[in-house]
Amino acid sequence: MSGIDQSGAYTLGDRSVKRLGYGAMQLAGPGVFGPPRDRDAALAVLREAVAAGVNHIDTSDFYGPHITNQIIREALAPYPDDLVIVTKISARRGDDGSWIPALAPEELRQAVHDNLRNLGLDTLDVVNFRSMHDIHEPAEGSNEAPLTVLAELQRQGLIRHIGLSNVTPTQIAEGRQICDIVCVQNQYNLAHRDDEALIDDLAHDGIPYVPYFPLGGFTPLQSSTLSAVAQRLGATPMQVALAWLLKRAPNLLLIPGTSSVAHLRENLAAAELALPDDVIEELDGVASAAAA
Ligand SMILES: NC(=O)c1ccc[n+]([C@@H]2O[C@H](COP(=O)([O-])OP(=O)(O)OC[C@H]3O[C@@H](n4cnc5c(N)ncnc54)[C@H](OP(=O)(O)O)[C@@H]3O)[C@@H](O)[C@H]2O)c1
Repeated sequence: MSGIDQSGAYTLGDRSVKRLGYGAMQLAGPGVFGPPRDRDAALAVLREAVAAGVNHIDTSDFYGPHITNQIIREALAPYPDDLVIVTKISARRGDDGSWIPALAPEELRQAVHDNLRNLGLDTLDVVNFRSMHDIHEPAEGSNEAPLTVLAELQRQGLIRHIGLSNVTPTQIAEGRQICDIVCVQNQYNLAHRDDEALIDDLAHDGIPYVPYFPLGGFTPLQSSTLSAVAQRLGATPMQVALAWLLKRAPNLLLIPGTSSVAHLRENLAAAELALPDDVIEELDGVASAAAA
């Protein structure tokens, strides 16, 4: 086994995907708004990801808006048979780039059709409903009404599977009463670990947990422990951060984002980085240091 195959695989919906995937948010312009500075570079990143074996790409039509999905289509359509594209809905972008909840039934239907058109698909593999009771972090509140609309779109054949994002365990339980929930996408990384118990509960039920901001997001992770460990192992801090996630639980599917082919290659090589147990223990301390 070589390359990203070493990250292993996990079932997402009715397909098996490699545990190292790719998140496309960095392919839009600054602030995830407008076109990228270098469109050819964005196309190259996507093509390189798929050539390296990535078969799970995370996106949204509100990246750009629309632009990231159009770039994915231009780079990759007709899509490889094994590629699973996961999108998310529940927001639209203001003229100033702001993120505005878009939860009315008509807005949800429109979002699904926008994703289908911009990605050039007849059916969306997985649609994550992103809860918006608080835009920045999971906050309690019912998502029954919008999820019922998504379940109807699923019955119509426009969506194959439904997932949830930015949610609490209570909201996941509510969602599972309405439809089959095939994945959960919340913020989680070496330094931000609110979902420890949730990850284990989902693993128990065979549901993938997809950490967003796996490298820290807009402000990539910085920690002296991470840097020291990376130096000792002859790896980069970002590779160590990804390898730690791969080791954390078998149901973690990674979608690190980058606009650079060099960073993509570096990130995918994390599949081949084995972390000894004492290093894991050392890295586990990073979260408490970050919280202090
Ligand atoms: N559900 C949600 O609410 C939600 C929210 C945010 C994101 N997401 C999804 O999660 C995916 C991942 O999140 P993300 O892209 O925001 O954050 P991320 O993967 O944690 O980090 C991306 C940042 O790290 C940099 N980076 C990547 N690889 C690097 C490397 N090897 N060395 C140094 N810097 C590196 C990128 O810059 P360069 O471009 O220069 O490499 C970018 O600034 C997104 O693409 C998106 O699909 C979902």
